[in-house]
Amino acid sequence: MRLRNIPRAGSVLDACKEVVKDETEYRGRWREIFGNPRPIHIEIGMGKGQFLLTLAAKNPDINYIGIERYSSVLLRAVERFQSEGGSAKIPAQGKLPDDHAPADKPGISNIRFICMDARNVPDVFAPGEIDRIYLNFSDPWPKSRHASRRLTSKEFLARYHKILSDGGAIEFKTDNRALFDFSVTEVLESPFFVMDRHTFDLHRDTVMNQGNIMTEYEEKFSSLGNPICKLIATTHKTAFSCIYSIEEIMS
Ligand SMILES: C[S@@+](CC[C@H](N)C(=O)[O-])C[C@H]1O[C@@H](n2cnc3c(N)ncnc32)[C@H](O)[C@@H]1O
Repeated sequence: MRLRNIPRAGSVLDACKEVVKDETEYRGRWREIFGNPRPIHIEIGMGKGQFLLTLAAKNPDINYIGIERYSSVLLRAVERFQSEGGSAKIPAQGKLPDDHAPADKPGISNIRFICMDARNVPDVFAPGEIDRIYLNFSDPWPKSRHASRRLTSKEFLARYHKILSDGGAIEFKTDNRALFDFSVTEVLESPFFVMDRHTFDLHRDTVMNQGNIMTEYEEKFSSLGNPICKLIATTHKTAFSCIYSIEEIMS
């Protein structure tokens, strides 16, 4: 993604109540921010936000948090959110800190944003606080010396495992076959995750493509004819089930 320094990014993000600035302060208390006990799903590297904003509008019973490293990119998602009438409402029983309280108009109330590097997710979310993590068209970092920066590397899988609930899941989509193959291997070798499902051509997979929401990159690359790969991996707590699942997949 081409990055430009956009001078208004700081002021727009500062003024937006749905952008949580002091994110480490809410570790273990994210449901207070939403004012309800519903599951929390996050997208890491949300880009301009098409995927998460669509998902949040479709699923009011789930709370969503979009994470993006660059303020100039998050700005695009927040501006889209605002132009679509998004605005958080105060839940009647909620004890929201003033900063994240309300809204004067109705809109999507189940989404928040954080500008941060995903490597810090264990400082921001408590163990078990997150139920699902979406990774869409993550940066490939093609040089092997940068493998640990890939969002599906074993280093990142260990971070995700710290914050996911038991049975929580990661969903990963990409058109980059080398990155996908790397990610499959990392999941199969992980002591923390089991492969639930995967496909090398999502848009032709009638089961996995059901309800699929396209991201900006997915629209762009599938229109060029690139097949889209997807995997879903779930957490488990015992080494035994990990060994079992690798044998099962290899057989
Ligand atoms: C290639 S873009 C994909 C955007 C969007 N998910 C899509 O599918 O259209 C990857 C995005 O992930 C963000 N990103 C990459 N590494 C990140 C990290 N460590 N923490 C947070 N965001 C990250 C980038 O800034 C970029 O916006």
